[in-house]
Amino acid sequence: MKIGPIEIDKPLCLAPMEDVSNLPFRVMCKEQGADIVYTEFTNCEALIRNVKGAMRKIQVCDAERPVAIQLYGSGEESMEQATEIAEMAGADFIDINCGCWVKKVAHRGDGAGLLRDLNKFKAVVQSVQRGTKLPVTVKTRLGWDENSYVILDVAPMLEDLGVQALTVHCRTRKQGYTGQADWNWLARIKEASKIPLIANGDINTPEDVKACFDLGCDGVMIGRGAIHSPWIFRYAKHYLKTGEILPEPAFQERVEMCIRHLKDSVAHRGESRGVKAFRRHYQGYLSGLRDIKKLRNDLMTLEEVAPIIDRLYRFLDDFERGEAA
Ligand SMILES: Cc1cc2nc3c(=O)[nH]c(=O)nc-3n(C[C@H](O)[C@H](O)[C@H](O)COP(=O)(O)O)c2cc1C
Repeated sequence: MKIGPIEIDKPLCLAPMEDVSNLPFRVMCKEQGADIVYTEFTNCEALIRNVKGAMRKIQVCDAERPVAIQLYGSGEESMEQATEIAEMAGADFIDINCGCWVKKVAHRGDGAGLLRDLNKFKAVVQSVQRGTKLPVTVKTRLGWDENSYVILDVAPMLEDLGVQALTVHCRTRKQGYTGQADWNWLARIKEASKIPLIANGDINTPEDVKACFDLGCDGVMIGRGAIHSPWIFRYAKHYLKTGEILPEPAFQERVEMCIRHLKDSVAHRGESRGVKAFRRHYQGYLSGLRDIKKLRNDLMTLEEVAPIIDRLYRFLDDFERGEAA
């Protein structure tokens, strides 16, 4: 698949996820085999106003390249200016969020709101293209609701505009996260347009990844599956190459990854925010282990790094002696 100068065969992408796909997590997933990573979405108006949190979200580093900075908004001038800022921040390409379903975004006409007005959708894409020489891509959903599956109109429209790739979360805006992502749409989108297509939605295992490639997709994007198992990218690649499913990483390896990720999170955000932001990741690193209720409770209440690391190593020692609690 080709996005401007970026050429990767069957890329596995880390999804943009607010408060999750931050710099430390992106680097971790990159090390675990993700080919392309996306920043969490950033509001164009906040970037223009130089809001500190927004500027932090678009910080990127060389270790994670190629990296897309994802923007959202529907003000054309603001999107153009924000794109210039994102380019200066070092993005390899710009992704436009046209799929966010939350009310305060979509009902304002941003994110998935653009699916209700394809002229506006087009104008927003063009405004981003005016703001950069970098490749521009789009991430969206199938349509607003079950009465408006517009994706088969959207894909050729974006292809005509010169958009370099389209990621489709195979649900409607109305569905949010309910039901099952409907991958049947992927082959239909491929028929309707030649735009490189990245499949997204409920791709959680190496077999799921293969199934989406078998449907003709050019790339695959993983979100929640990567929170649960950041090693999914490595495992999926191994499966695509050999047909073999690797056993889950050993607990020691997971604890080491968890600690390293925690330290990076703290280096990025400072101790208090870094520790709190990290809490959603324990579940993934510790998944599948029995008798970890007490450990998890402790980890969710500890506020400093040193005691957390201590607690994890203590659990690991006990675990290896068969006495974990
Ligand atoms: C916590 C969280 C935050 C998200 N934030 C974003 C975002 O900033 N931009 C975006 O395009 N999608 C966002 N999404 C949607 C995901 O990118 C993805 O489309 C969706 O989770 C479906 O993929 P999955 O089944 O692999 O998780 C978010 C999803 C989650 C779970």
